[in-house]
Amino acid sequence: MKKETQHKREGFSSSIGVIAAVLGSAVGLGNIWKFPYVTGANGGAAFILVYLICVALVGLPVMLSEHLIGRHTKANAVGAFKALQPRRPWFLVGGAGVLSAFLIMAFYTSVAGWVYAYIFKAAGGALLTAKPEDTTLVFNKLVSGVGEPLFWQVFVLLVTGSIIMAGVTKGIERVTKLLMPLLFLLLVIIDIRSLTLSGAGAGLSFLFKPDFSKITVSVILAALGLAFFKLSVGMGTMITYGSYVDKNENLPKMAIKVALADTLVSLMAGIAVFPAVFAFGFTPDQGPKLLFVIIPAVFNSMPFGRVFMVLFFVLTAIAATGAMLSLLEVPIAFLTEQYQWTRRKATLLTILGIGLLGSTATLSNSIFATVTVFGKTFFDFYDFATSNVLLPLGGIFIALFVGWQWGYVKVKQELSNQGQLANDGLARVYLFLVKYIVPIAIAVVLFTGLK
Ligand code: PHE
Repeated sequence: MKKETQHKREGFSSSIGVIAAVLGSAVGLGNIWKFPYVTGANGGAAFILVYLICVALVGLPVMLSEHLIGRHTKANAVGAFKALQPRRPWFLVGGAGVLSAFLIMAFYTSVAGWVYAYIFKAAGGALLTAKPEDTTLVFNKLVSGVGEPLFWQVFVLLVTGSIIMAGVTKGIERVTKLLMPLLFLLLVIIDIRSLTLSGAGAGLSFLFKPDFSKITVSVILAALGLAFFKLSVGMGTMITYGSYVDKNENLPKMAIKVALADTLVSLMAGIAVFPAVFAFGFTPDQGPKLLFVIIPAVFNSMPFGRVFMVLFFVLTAIAATGAMLSLLEVPIAFLTEQYQWTRRKATLLTILGIGLLGSTATLSNSIFATVTVFGKTFFDFYDFATSNVLLPLGGIFIALFVGWQWGYVKVKQELSNQGQLANDGLARVYLFLVKYIVPIAIAVVLFTGLK
């Protein structure tokens, strides 16, 4: 009998496929939903500037580190550390990553459920109103319900679980490769409409004219957390995906491309949202509902708005699904490789666990509205605990591992594809970053920001 773990390990089949899958992990609700609302809540342009610095100096090196570890060991987040350091507790970093995947999925599937539901609301015409006050009502009604949001969350889990069961190359690669360009194109169209609304200028200055007095430690922590969440780093997703990447892939180049494209999509989502926020007389600090109340109003003010709106939510649902596949792959690669579970069993039990935990996030606006953990609803707690605590902590340890534990010569070999790439200079900058800058910067921001 052939066990799942004894198979020839599956991998991404082409260079384009790799980029598409890694980008498919990075691009998701983080760009379309989270980036705009967190930017709105933290003062706009100055926050974006801090965010960009976090991506370049912290997020990018951590992503590269994860790809190096994953490709070198060809193992899941826990197994990778065990392979490199069998006698030290570094595997706990991977273990924390598996936990993070559960916690992120708990609220991510809830928001993805709203997006799936909005496809049908948009198609049915329920969102066809130019008044954000009315779209706010529609949103509040959805999230304060019980049966409806739970139904969509379960639906999301079943869709994602089925794709996962189809396997890595067939499932993940195929879906993501097709649809990224389409999402990009649609964002261009929405941006144009948003920018041509009268009163759009105020939104643009909110996005691009920094007011440095807005920067506080908690703003910096939010930017750092968003950078981790956005790039899918700090929890082993990129170790897991890195483990499917071919020996000849140029990893630094790939990480840079992915970070650039991901940032571009986030900025484009910001340009879709903020000019409209100001044009329609809203305030930018609406919190998690921002996208859901503003975007329908934008579509309403353009020709064929209903068609485009349906398309927008379909593509956002697909982007969210690509990200969820990568989140699920972390516990599933762990369970199939470390415990020899079949892919089917691992998937089913994982989505069951996420469904149970996730229902507490979904019901945070109804039954559990008054239940709090550290002063936050379940939904906000899962979000905060992952983005602003667990992922940055994971980032510290991943950087320390590559910088101090793995060994200079071995890191350089992996980084240069065993000497095939001439990237000595880059290796030096990278190792300096992961040795000193990344761990120190994160530690300082975490300790001061959490106080
Ligand atoms: N980067 C994804 C997004 O922006 C979310 C994610 C976080 C995916 C962590 C995997 C791991 O939506």
